[in-house]
Amino acid sequence: MIEELNNYNFLTENDNLLLKTYNLGFNNKQILIITINREKSLNAVDLNILKSLSNVLKHVKDDSNILSIIITGAGSKAFIAGADIKSMNNFNSEDAYKYSVLGQDLVKLINSFDKPIIAAINGYALGGGCEIATACHLRYASENSIFGQPEVKLGIIAGWGGTVNLKKIIGLGNATKLLISGDTINCDEALRLGLVNMVFPFANFLSSVIKEVKSFCHNSPNAIKNTLISINSSNNDESYKIESDLFSKSFKHEDSRIGISAFLRKEKPKFK
Ligand code: CAA
Repeated sequence: MIEELNNYNFLTENDNLLLKTYNLGFNNKQILIITINREKSLNAVDLNILKSLSNVLKHVKDDSNILSIIITGAGSKAFIAGADIKSMNNFNSEDAYKYSVLGQDLVKLINSFDKPIIAAINGYALGGGCEIATACHLRYASENSIFGQPEVKLGIIAGWGGTVNLKKIIGLGNATKLLISGDTINCDEALRLGLVNMVFPFANFLSSVIKEVKSFCHNSPNAIKNTLISINSSNNDESYKIESDLFSKSFKHEDSRIGISAFLRKEKPKFK
């Protein structure tokens, strides 16, 4: 199936995003596959990727040939290992606030999208990666996938909607546990909690996901659109604002320096 992919004709101005389409074989309808392509950094998402991903999705919204979108990560190790910690190293609280709002704009766009967006999680989905996956309408995981919100280990909080959206999927208690422990869970636990819809073997993972997505592409696009609009109609604006404020404030606290610099030195943080 992967051999049948074509290039998607849209200039992203960002080599870190690969855009391919899978032709569904009727009326020129297609699935768009967006790959975050920063394998060496475990597909950590920086400011440019955030902006490009938003631009692609805004473009695709009006492309009536695209019925569904799959987001995945390059390589065999990671979906997205989070926001780019290296770029956050010198953030002040204003930078952090802007970064949080940009990330939230992306997850809100995904969450309110009127075509199904599926996270094909092929490895680590940590921090912002787990938040992007959580914003998607469905999550399919490969057997090697690992999930978590390790921000507290960096002395900061989740800033791309994690405190707003995770609890809607796995319940308040489970979400709180993940968000304050920083623990990671494997795909079996993620399936048990309802964080992922299905788990597939790593071999032929993308083909398995495409096959699954194909199965609902024959339903009425209009009915799917209205279903998604109705499901996602609740307004979370106040919760997102509180999250951005607190994400930003965490960069004023010395814990963020302790946590982020420990990560960069590949050491364990020692919070006071
Ligand atoms: N940002 C920037 N670079 C990252 C990264 C990230 N989130 N995650 C991994 N990398 C980089 C590493 O620094 C390393 O780069 P170098 O080769 O230049 O040293 C490279 O990717 C490979 O990573 P590791 O050597 O660490 O690989 P590993 O197999 O030993 O560990 C891992 C894998 C457990 C995922 C580990 O990389 C890790 O813990 N990453 C950070 C995960 C994290 O904390 N994510 C949350 C980010 S904050 C956030 O997302 C805030 C928000 O809500 C918006």
